[in-house]
Amino acid sequence: MGKRILSGVQPSGKLHLGNYFGAVKQHIALQEIPDAERFYFIADFHSLTTVQDAAKLREFVHGVALDYLALGLDPQKSTFFRQSDVPEVTELAWLLSTVTGMGLLERAHSYKDKLQKGIKPSVGLFYYPLLMAADILIYKSDLVPVGQDQVQHVEMTQDMATYFNETYKTKVFVRPETKLSSTPKVPGIDGEKMSKSYGNTIDLQAEEKELKKVVMSVKTDSTPVDQPKNPDTDNVYALYSLFASDDEKKALADRYRAGGMGYGDAKKLLLEKVLTHFADYRKKRAELIAKPEVVEQVLRDGATKARALAR
Ligand code: ADP
Ligand code: TRP
Repeated sequence: MGKRILSGVQPSGKLHLGNYFGAVKQHIALQEIPDAERFYFIADFHSLTTVQDAAKLREFVHGVALDYLALGLDPQKSTFFRQSDVPEVTELAWLLSTVTGMGLLERAHSYKDKLQKGIKPSVGLFYYPLLMAADILIYKSDLVPVGQDQVQHVEMTQDMATYFNETYKTKVFVRPETKLSSTPKVPGIDGEKMSKSYGNTIDLQAEEKELKKVVMSVKTDSTPVDQPKNPDTDNVYALYSLFASDDEKKALADRYRAGGMGYGDAKKLLLEKVLTHFADYRKKRAELIAKPEVVEQVLRDGATKARALAR
């Protein structure tokens, strides 16, 4: 039997280059594998740990649905749905919680990072990996394409599958594997990991004017224009590399090393890449905005399929 691929994205804001190059791009690319089934969902239950305005959350869910469809998600090839339309995942999360030790969850990096930032955690934030494990295990998923920051959550899922299978002397849950993209950790405009929560993102939806402002504000060192520059430590170069061919990367790296080129010129090249790469997406997205019922129907049809399997 073919592999089952599954992933989710939280609807907690607009998609950015990190989400795209770390996760969504490979979700779409994996549609071309003939002998596989794909399940992609919008993790709205997870987002409730941060977004607690109902109207806003609905808007974000719709926005992520538009994004995926505009980026090439094909409902014939992928089952695309809203997490909360399959409430059985919350039931499974509970069952998993009864065989999972506190210590496993206490070791979660993303939870610890949030504590460190001074966020007062809800029980839901702590419980988050259990719900994610349920999302993965309920469909007996084999492969989970995500960015670097989610790897530990998939490892925890593997542990939970084992705990459950051993406790109940069964083989009901399949051990999932992570699938990383070639760019699992995209830097933000400040050089830290790009993330909605750090306010350092380049958003896919940004209009030309806004995009220009963000790209021009990418942090660089203060090497003067005439001096040689090191592409390997520069953020503009790292972002440009996401889009460029090997020849284009080499050409820009040579210009860096030769000196005589300012970071402003590299930023212009980056801006051009972002604009052209997402032009088609922006056009399709604008068309889909006019058809909210079509988008909603895709999610409903996806949920019918996913829910039947989950049950
Ligand atoms: P955010 O950190 O902005 O809240 P999410 O946690 O919603 O992003 O991540 C959605 C998907 O995008 C996940 O698979 C995650 O691993 C991936 N992702 C997020 N940020 C990055 C990044 N900077 N580089 C690579 N992948 C990322
Ligand atoms: N936690 C993931 C994120 O923040 C979203 C997610 C929820 C997910 N459930 C999942 C990803 C199951 C993969 C599989 O990006």
